[in-house]
Amino acid sequence: MPTKVIAVANQKGGVGKTTTAVNLAACLAAMDRRVLLFDLDPQANATSGVGLEKTEGASAYRALLGDGGLLEKIQPTAFERLEIIPSEVDLCGADIELARSENYLHRVAGALQPVLQSQRFDVVFVDCPPSLGILTLNAFAAADGLLVPLQCEYYALEGISMLNRIMAQLHGNGVNPRLELLGVVMTMFDSRTKLCQQVVSEVREHFGERVFETMIPRSTRLAEAPSFGKPIIYYDKYSSGAAAYELLAQEVLARLEKPSPQPAEVAIPAPVSDIPTT
Ligand SMILES: Nc1ncnc2c1ncn2[C@@H]1O[C@H](COP(=O)(O)OP(=O)(O)OP(=O)(O)O)[C@@H](O)[C@H]1O
Ligand SMILES: [Mg+2]
Repeated sequence: MPTKVIAVANQKGGVGKTTTAVNLAACLAAMDRRVLLFDLDPQANATSGVGLEKTEGASAYRALLGDGGLLEKIQPTAFERLEIIPSEVDLCGADIELARSENYLHRVAGALQPVLQSQRFDVVFVDCPPSLGILTLNAFAAADGLLVPLQCEYYALEGISMLNRIMAQLHGNGVNPRLELLGVVMTMFDSRTKLCQQVVSEVREHFGERVFETMIPRSTRLAEAPSFGKPIIYYDKYSSGAAAYELLAQEVLARLEKPSPQPAEVAIPAPVSDIPTT
């Protein structure tokens, strides 16, 4: 099977993108898959979440600008079969620098080519920053699938129409016609609140089967784990958060390893042309 690249994205901040990227990556690695976690967010939360220090010059920044290769940026973690391309604050400059460079939407896709050709990984998870800026668009242009964490809150669906629009644009203008919505995962679910349940049913109505059955509960253990530099399955194996991410990992694998992916059940609007194709 060729390596699958999954962008974990939502332009809203604090919805559980990094928690999902780190923990899915760790669970899939524990399920014998070779996983690369690509931290594309200058906040570098995924990097610290797997216990790595932020190190100057360690991020993808220079490689994205054509200086050196991405393969050299891959570092091992303390967890078997889980490797990382770390981030650090210099990635902040990438949005501006990349905007000025040629082929600026395909920098991540281009830099990832040798990594994919090396066949070292089964899955690459790209942790995106909370915006639809150039780094995120680059992740979309490089990805096979988009995984969207949605927080169980009133404004959950806000911004999702924007994601749909962007996906339609990437299809329409040929930047990435193969991008699929791999799925939507509800995060910070609290079954005791009526609002949470209402949000979930609204999201299910909108996205149908693309919503993963597994919902990630709100859990203090999940919030604590990053400060110990450990994914939840290593921080507290028997917590509800660990169980949820293990189940989600199984669902993700089932979708990834299906021979032909299901078409997204999302109404995708007609393509508009405000994203340049270069
Ligand atoms: N299921 C959960 N239960 C409790 N806390 C959670 C859960 N998921 C994430 N958190 C906490 O919520 C905060 C935001 O989560 P996270 O960093 O994963 O979101 P994000 O979407 O990556 O944020 P950003 O947009 O800043 O990159 C973090 O402090 C995290 O530990
Ligand atoms: Mg994050």
